[in-house]
Amino acid sequence: MIEENKWLGHITNNSGGEMKKALLAYSGGLDTSAILVWLQKEMNLEVYCYCCDMGNMPDKEWLEKRALSFGAKKFIFDDAREEFVNDYVFNVIKSGALYEGEYLLGTAIGRPLIASKMGKVAEEYDIDIFVHGATGKGNDQLRLEQSWSYLYPDKEILTPWKEWSFKGRNELLNYLEAQGYPYEGESGGRYSIDENIFHKSTEGAELEDVAISYNDEILDHKIEETMPSKITLSFKKGIPFALNGEEYGAKDLLDELNKYGIQYNIGIADIVEERVNGIKSRGVYHTPGGTVLAFALKKLKEICWSHKTTKLAQMMSIEYAELVYEGAWFSTARTSLDAFFNSAAQNLEGTVSLEFGPSFMKVLSRKSEKSLYSKSLVSFEEDEFGINKSAIGFCKTRNLQYINEGKVK
Ligand code: ARG
Repeated sequence: MIEENKWLGHITNNSGGEMKKALLAYSGGLDTSAILVWLQKEMNLEVYCYCCDMGNMPDKEWLEKRALSFGAKKFIFDDAREEFVNDYVFNVIKSGALYEGEYLLGTAIGRPLIASKMGKVAEEYDIDIFVHGATGKGNDQLRLEQSWSYLYPDKEILTPWKEWSFKGRNELLNYLEAQGYPYEGESGGRYSIDENIFHKSTEGAELEDVAISYNDEILDHKIEETMPSKITLSFKKGIPFALNGEEYGAKDLLDELNKYGIQYNIGIADIVEERVNGIKSRGVYHTPGGTVLAFALKKLKEICWSHKTTKLAQMMSIEYAELVYEGAWFSTARTSLDAFFNSAAQNLEGTVSLEFGPSFMKVLSRKSEKSLYSKSLVSFEEDEFGINKSAIGFCKTRNLQYINEGKVK
């Protein structure tokens, strides 16, 4: 039964009553620093700050110091890398999801994880209100708010960028100064960047002009080793578990694959996509290891899946990508599609060997105990079933419909 949702349609303000607790998705940047102060001063809230590492290596000590010095009651930090790769990245790869045929959804899968982690914290500290610093123009607001709505339908959500009257960075700087919390250091670079172990997206500044090509400097992944040009990946139930015969945990495997992807310039996509709100936006996405993984798994699917399964999966992939992109990670629709992919992935096991060259990769070999591929059946030599002979009847029957149509054309 659905009861009235108490957060829809009004701003929380608890002046007078007992002080409510807010949990802010905090990055230590200018926006969330201003939000942290604004929540205390203007909304009279006690603020807890949350941050997790999904592979972007936030500096925990620095963040904690900063949050507390800006008045936070508490700073909470999680290392969520293993969970992110295991439960989100591998699921998206297994499903073959690509938004608008190209985007591997690296930002879109990060937000529901942050939301659910914050939910756990909210339960522990008896938090009343979730707060995020995403603007009203992008997709991230939906991904966070919809996740909280599904997981914690009775809690409130507060979105400062949609409530306050500040218009830009300078006004935030002035506000912080006036409140006695001068903001020092980086006030944000030229670009809007989102980074995790799976992907780095860069948007804004000159990239907003789709007539201008991007500068390689924005792909600032560096690696120290020189990686060999060949790899073998092993899969079980559609999930990778070993590289070159050596078993790895989820995060470590993706870390390794990233090195290959970066060395050989794999997984760079310069995309114009349509946001859920209809605004077209241009971004440059770097998904090195994930692109290698998706390619290898596709090669395994080719030998392990029937045409019917492949076709169904293709159709479902489109829906899966759409749901993840629009922020419906926590929804019956998405988990139902997951059930399909988990079932279809039961026989996705085996190994795939790849070779890399500059900006390309090719498959060297695919092997699987569950392979549907038969060399003897496809061979141009005679096979044990005498398929050539039996094809007389097969073709005659198939021809009937065309004979019928041909006669009346
Ligand atoms: N356009 C991509 C998406 O909607 C990337 C968004 C990046 N977000 C950010 N806050 N920089 O998934």
